[in-house]
Amino acid sequence: MTKPEHIALLDSASPADSKTYYLKTFGCQMNVYDSERMMEALARDGYSATDAPDNADLIILNTCHIREKAAEKVYSDLGRLRDIKNLRAAQGKNTVITVAGCVAQAEGREITRRQPAVDLVVGPQSYHRLDQLIGRVAKTGDRIVETEFEGENKFAEMTAPRRVSSPSAFLTIQEGCDKFCTFCVVPYTRGVEFSRPVADLEQEARALVEAGAVELTLLGQNVNAYHGEGASGRSVSLAELIRRLADIDGIQRIRYTTSHPHDMSDDLIVAHRDIAQLMPSLHLPVQSGSDRLLAAMNRKHTAADYLSIIDKVKSACPGIALSSDFIVGFPGETDTDAEATLALVREVGFAQSFSFKYSPRPGTPASGFGEQVPEALKTERLLALQALLEEQQLTFNRASIGQVATVLFERLGREGGQLVGRTSHLQLIHATGPASMIGQIARVDITQARQMSLTGVIQAA
Ligand code: SAH
Ligand code: SF4
Ligand code: F3S
Repeated sequence: MTKPEHIALLDSASPADSKTYYLKTFGCQMNVYDSERMMEALARDGYSATDAPDNADLIILNTCHIREKAAEKVYSDLGRLRDIKNLRAAQGKNTVITVAGCVAQAEGREITRRQPAVDLVVGPQSYHRLDQLIGRVAKTGDRIVETEFEGENKFAEMTAPRRVSSPSAFLTIQEGCDKFCTFCVVPYTRGVEFSRPVADLEQEARALVEAGAVELTLLGQNVNAYHGEGASGRSVSLAELIRRLADIDGIQRIRYTTSHPHDMSDDLIVAHRDIAQLMPSLHLPVQSGSDRLLAAMNRKHTAADYLSIIDKVKSACPGIALSSDFIVGFPGETDTDAEATLALVREVGFAQSFSFKYSPRPGTPASGFGEQVPEALKTERLLALQALLEEQQLTFNRASIGQVATVLFERLGREGGQLVGRTSHLQLIHATGPASMIGQIARVDITQARQMSLTGVIQAA
């Protein structure tokens, strides 16, 4: 999953007499979605957003535990927020500091032990009770840690009206993961796989369209394992769900992320050929090109399995933009294993990728494996892999020069008159045009390509 580039706060004005909150999001798109739902609930309860924590009655960090760096960043932020809380207390103002997200779930009470300024720790399964929990903290002054998996459908309980901050909206359809890759904390922080019922998703998709969305990105930690309940209790696959959502008036584009190779079924592959609204891009993490390491990672597929899925995907949807995640320096990784990953990358040709140094995570099996790879070697291998991936991204982007892209414009650019959008292949693109084109899909002649983005000229209507 990609990192959010920019988290738009839905409210910016804050009348002097109302309560204000500051919310910061770390990690993947699932956290971005959860933050949006929390913001909607806070708006309903009379809060307005501020981007300065010194003005905030309520501070929420929505955190990520995937790698050590991500988790440690939270503690350094909390140190600064404690100082702000103390300053505000000297002015007679109360501040409630909340840690939400995957660090909250994984570390629980350890957080209030390490940083006693924290008032509330709330795991991802309890967001529908956020208002009650904040109320209890305010009333009693107690510190609360709420990290139970209670098996309630929190989505059904989150009833504040949906709003969008961009014409491209996220919709979480599945949460949790049963795969237990040996390096990964997600099965422990998000719990077992759960798919939301089809009717709920259709209803939420319509609400997003009414609020201004034209593109939906369906989210799940393991989104292609989706098997939600349809009419009369029948189980519905991701491909079938996409078909249902594509029938909703106003939904012009659909994407989904993140998929696991093991769940890349044939009906989903042919959906890329048959459903016009399903965009020609696929994020399918492979992690490594070495079968020995894939087995040690418990990935349930080999390099050859992955390549054969990619062949099928390419023949169903020629020109599809492929992307992946990679881990270098997994315990026991040899030069031969690292070379196997490079060979797989050369064979596939990725449009975009995310690559990370292996980070041992507490409680995961791989953190106890022998033969941990030295940091310097991880860095060396990461640089070699990233050089190849960056070259492939540039090649993919350069091949678009002279072509016509369909682009959804999402926001204003930094320069005057500039718009920023995404091509159907998910490439970032800049073009000059009026702000009224935000939310519209236009044909754009691609004139320039860099590694991270394209430039184009909007065709006359
Ligand atoms: N649901 C997603 C996983 C989210 S984590 C999926 O299955 O793809 C996103 C990426 O972070 C993973 O694909 C993996 O490449 C990386 N990652 C996960 N755990 C890691 C760890 N312990 N060290 C380094 N990278 C890790
Ligand atoms: Fe983590 Fe593996 Fe599940 Fe992805 S599939 S969330 S990497 S355990
Ligand atoms: Fe991070 Fe949790 Fe997402 S660990 S990547 S925020 S599921």
